[in-house]
Amino acid sequence: MTSDVLVIGSGAAGLTAALNLADRFSVTVLAKGRLDEGSTAWAQGGIAAVLEPGDTFEHHVRDTIVAGAGLNDRATVEFVVERAPAAIERLAALGVPFNVAENGGNGWHLTREGGHSHRRIVHVDDATGWAVQDALLRAAHAHPNITLVPDMVAIDLATSRHEMRYSGAGHVHGVYAYNRGTGQVDLYTARATILATGGAGRTYQFSTAPRGATGDGIAMAWRAGARVSNMEFMQFHPTCLFHLEVKNFLITEAVRGEGGRLINPTTGKRFMTYYDAERLELAPRDVVARAIDAEIKRFGLDFVHLDISHRGPDFVKAHFPTIHARLSELGIDMTREPIPVVPAQHYTCGGVVVDRDGRTDLPGLYAAGEVSQSGLHGANRLASNSLLECFVFGEAAANHIAAHWDDLPPPPAIRPWDDSRVTDSDEEVVIKQNWTEIRRFMWNYVGIVRTTKRLERAQHRIKMLQEEVADYYGHFRVTPDLIELRNLLQSAELIVRSALHRHESRGLHYTLDYTDTLDAAADTVLIP
Ligand code: FAD
Ligand code: SIN
Repeated sequence: MTSDVLVIGSGAAGLTAALNLADRFSVTVLAKGRLDEGSTAWAQGGIAAVLEPGDTFEHHVRDTIVAGAGLNDRATVEFVVERAPAAIERLAALGVPFNVAENGGNGWHLTREGGHSHRRIVHVDDATGWAVQDALLRAAHAHPNITLVPDMVAIDLATSRHEMRYSGAGHVHGVYAYNRGTGQVDLYTARATILATGGAGRTYQFSTAPRGATGDGIAMAWRAGARVSNMEFMQFHPTCLFHLEVKNFLITEAVRGEGGRLINPTTGKRFMTYYDAERLELAPRDVVARAIDAEIKRFGLDFVHLDISHRGPDFVKAHFPTIHARLSELGIDMTREPIPVVPAQHYTCGGVVVDRDGRTDLPGLYAAGEVSQSGLHGANRLASNSLLECFVFGEAAANHIAAHWDDLPPPPAIRPWDDSRVTDSDEEVVIKQNWTEIRRFMWNYVGIVRTTKRLERAQHRIKMLQEEVADYYGHFRVTPDLIELRNLLQSAELIVRSALHRHESRGLHYTLDYTDTLDAAADTVLIP
């Protein structure tokens, strides 16, 4: 199938790009499962924008760079921060029902999160992502130029190497994708392709991210020859629910923003005073997650407590209705008792290198959202800057495509997928086992506190698993699980290689072998 523009991913970044292109171009949007299955729909806290009287763009820029431990690209931070208020207005116009100010004013209600010097987070209760995903999907469904294709698992980008008559131009022409409905591999071509496939959180055993966050876009771009950067900066959210059955339910940072306190269940004491006496629970995420990790290890705990019961039942239920309802189902009454929490992987700060137009290294290939490394987040993302990045870069990529349309060649004839030399596998169990193994050792060896020895151990295991999977891939027909496992391993390899490359501790990368932060800040850029 051919369209003007192909978007891989139907979250905030992909749908924003599609909606900004569709008045002029035909756009096909692929999703590997349901259209609302990415991280966007799971977002809780909200979207950061300078809207409070007394707040300034410079404050937001500074907070972003402080959280990012100085590794951010300042011009990109300014680019994003300055576009935030307009992005919020456009979402409101699309029908996102942001909460309005409690004092009856005509502005939005702004909540607060870690690392922000001002109230800055617009939100829809504690389920902002669901409202955003819903509004974007409704608009996309209604647009006659947008074709939404769920259950289509992108495998690899179609590049010059796949042309019937090899041009050597290095251009990306589209993607090969596994069709869950037919079991066949289909070819989608376009003049421009936008990767909006989200992050790689599921490389870790404990993650707040949905099942599909397997780093597919990062791995596909890397295999096609694009640079990938800053993969060592995997963000761990401080407060994921600790529960024996429910492993990945986030307790939004806004709970701490509205006064929630972290307590050591053994001592009964509020422990952030020892780790960051000034910012306490509202220090940036890397600081709070490391503090919880240290407390858990020091006292042999399974979890720490997050307590907001002092704000009273009416306040808690009004501000956090979704979390309150879910915890009640699990027998926890957050209006009266503390919530057991642990850190869990949450966000991929690194990714495919893009410029401020969302362009990757490969002609015809753009990337936006969590799959990309735009320079916004540096060594640690500031809370609620991620959805914002999706809106700003989804639009920027669309604008660049529209402005340079005549420079983008129509796709040439591309070879169809060839699976004539492979057979069906009867060893699905191998894939499942490898999935579990990789996620476990990434958690144990490449977590919040690292050492060179552990990273090398992980690297060795990844290499062995990659050889096994490459062999498997060469002999058997692809399945969605095999596609994801191959990408998960590639993402893990890039994370570990980047972590070994950084001989300092900065932001989310903390290693006992290099505890100092170097004076000069530099991205880790990997070249295929
Ligand atoms: P996603 O929304 O993850 O979408 C990825 C899309 O790509 C999906 O449609 C998926 O099907 C598709 N895809 C992936 N691989 C393939 C493939 N191989 N083939 C075809 N399609 C594919 N950020 C904030 O700013 N504020 C918050 O309050 C906030 N809360 C969060 C809460 C949770 C629990 C989580 C997990 C994250 C939160 N984040 C938050 C982060 C934010 O939600 C994400 O970074 C953001 O939504 C990513 O959007 P995206 O469009 O890049 O990708
Ligand atoms: C949260 O609500 O704590 C998540 C916010 C974010 O990831 O930016």
